[in-house]
Amino acid sequence: MAGAAAAVSRRAATLLLSSRCRRPTNPISPLIPTVRAMNRRFLCSSSVSASTAEPTEAAGQLGDTVKEFRKRLRIEELKGGPDEGLSWVGKGLTVRGWVRTCRVQSSVTFIEVNDGSCLSNMQCVMTSDVEGYDQIESGAVTTGASVLIDGTVVPSQGAKQKIELKVTQLVVIGRSDPTSYPIQKKRVTREFLRSIAHLRPRTNTFSAVTRVRNALAYATHKFFQENGFVWVSSPIITASDCEGAGEQFCVTTMIQNDNFTVSKIPATKDGKIDWSQDFFGKPAFLTVSGQLNGETYACALSDIYTFGPTFRAENSNTSRHLAEFWMIEPELAFADLNDDMACATAYLQYVVKYVLENCKEDMEFFNTWIEKGIINRLNDVVEKSFVQLSYSDAIDLLIKSKKKFEFPVKWGLDLQSEHERYITEQAFGGSPVIIRDYPKEIKAFYMRQNDDAKTVAAMDLLVPRVGELIGGSQREERLDYLEARLEELNLNKEIYWWYLDLRRFGSVPHAGFGLGFERLVQFATGIDNIRDVIPFPRTPGSADF
Ligand code: 4AD
Ligand code: MG
Repeated sequence: MAGAAAAVSRRAATLLLSSRCRRPTNPISPLIPTVRAMNRRFLCSSSVSASTAEPTEAAGQLGDTVKEFRKRLRIEELKGGPDEGLSWVGKGLTVRGWVRTCRVQSSVTFIEVNDGSCLSNMQCVMTSDVEGYDQIESGAVTTGASVLIDGTVVPSQGAKQKIELKVTQLVVIGRSDPTSYPIQKKRVTREFLRSIAHLRPRTNTFSAVTRVRNALAYATHKFFQENGFVWVSSPIITASDCEGAGEQFCVTTMIQNDNFTVSKIPATKDGKIDWSQDFFGKPAFLTVSGQLNGETYACALSDIYTFGPTFRAENSNTSRHLAEFWMIEPELAFADLNDDMACATAYLQYVVKYVLENCKEDMEFFNTWIEKGIINRLNDVVEKSFVQLSYSDAIDLLIKSKKKFEFPVKWGLDLQSEHERYITEQAFGGSPVIIRDYPKEIKAFYMRQNDDAKTVAAMDLLVPRVGELIGGSQREERLDYLEARLEELNLNKEIYWWYLDLRRFGSVPHAGFGLGFERLVQFATGIDNIRDVIPFPRTPGSADF
């Protein structure tokens, strides 16, 4: 390490020198920073926060300017272009990242470095005369160690890549003990990787999932912004249950971390919890959906969308359920169910097209290792129009299939995953299908009643493998119908007073949908378990990290 530390302090000293030359009158400049402070200066682009207040005369001489922010050059930018990096040949640059492998040969050492910007590593080739070679000799360059490598881009001798880095200096930033670092070259299961969720982003699969997830989020905002929607933040803490399913997590300050004694929870005379003494003065919960709040803004700004975390305390240990997941909920004013389905289709096609065009390397990876044929499947999603059929027709189709389902099919049944999968995967050969006009008994109170008085203007978009990706509806905009429905369902009208107000003052037909973001990531990557498409999954019995 001695050589590395010396190299670091030499570079830092140069920086320090130039800043001191610029500000010779600074009264505190004679203070020599510690080596640690210098290292930080050298390695990070962090900045010191600046005060906006007018400087006093004395303070005007103190301090230093904040360094200019510069985008870092990443491996993706070097190797991701059409010439796979050949235009960089001859240029000197610095690579910062984590060692994937280090192969020491008699005359030359190969270090594969990954910086997370893409699947490709930078192959760094080093001879024994190079500064920092003592790090190789001392065994500090191991899998998982973080390094900073200066070098010159040269054409690669190997067949795997067009360019490599001829190292001129190697600095090990953080060592990684090879006897205990849990991610080694051999393949490990995704179940095991879940138990090391803090390190799994360093694997190919999880870094690729993370980049595709990021691209989908970006494309989501891009789609709605380009179409005139306004992003609205719906609250995370709420006193109303949007879906009416009673699957909410309670938010309270009556149980404190340092005191878990039951007798300390405030109670009323009849032994019930005294919510008036709680933080909000009444029971409060984590939201299951931002829709009701979203509707209020759609009924003012016309088209809005929310994109945020939602929470469900449903005890479902499946590959498609999380207790904490992200939902995208657009809401369209002056719109009916057909407009809603058109928006959902255009949105899905847009974001899928975006990842196919912008995440090529990652999609090839999924196509090879996770789901063979996923690229073709997604291309079909972009190009073909989606089928829509009524719930009643879907029930007929299931009955006519003569298939033995675990849940026998009859009108009124809430479609189970086995039915949804049959419809998309078999009946419609793997393309997304929208089912509309569900029985009102199996859907939420806010959905608009159809003229048959039996069904509501609801729609679910189903996709192969994942099942329900989107759930949406036209909303009941008629005050009398909505009030009647709340009464029928024994829901407390008082709680929904503000929601009902939307129907009292300038009510408009409106519609929207909710898309489970993690299910979208599953759909776009082929990853079969939802726990592997969110950084830190929360599921029944598990809230680690
Ligand atoms: O069908 P849901 O329950 O609809 C609503 O919440 C409406 N308020 C949406 C709206 O109209 N604005 O949920 C919407 C979507 C589902 O289709 C599914 O993709 C996802 O959210 N979802 C879950 N994803 C992961 N884990 C869970 N436990 C989920 N529950 C729903
Ligand atoms: Mg649903």
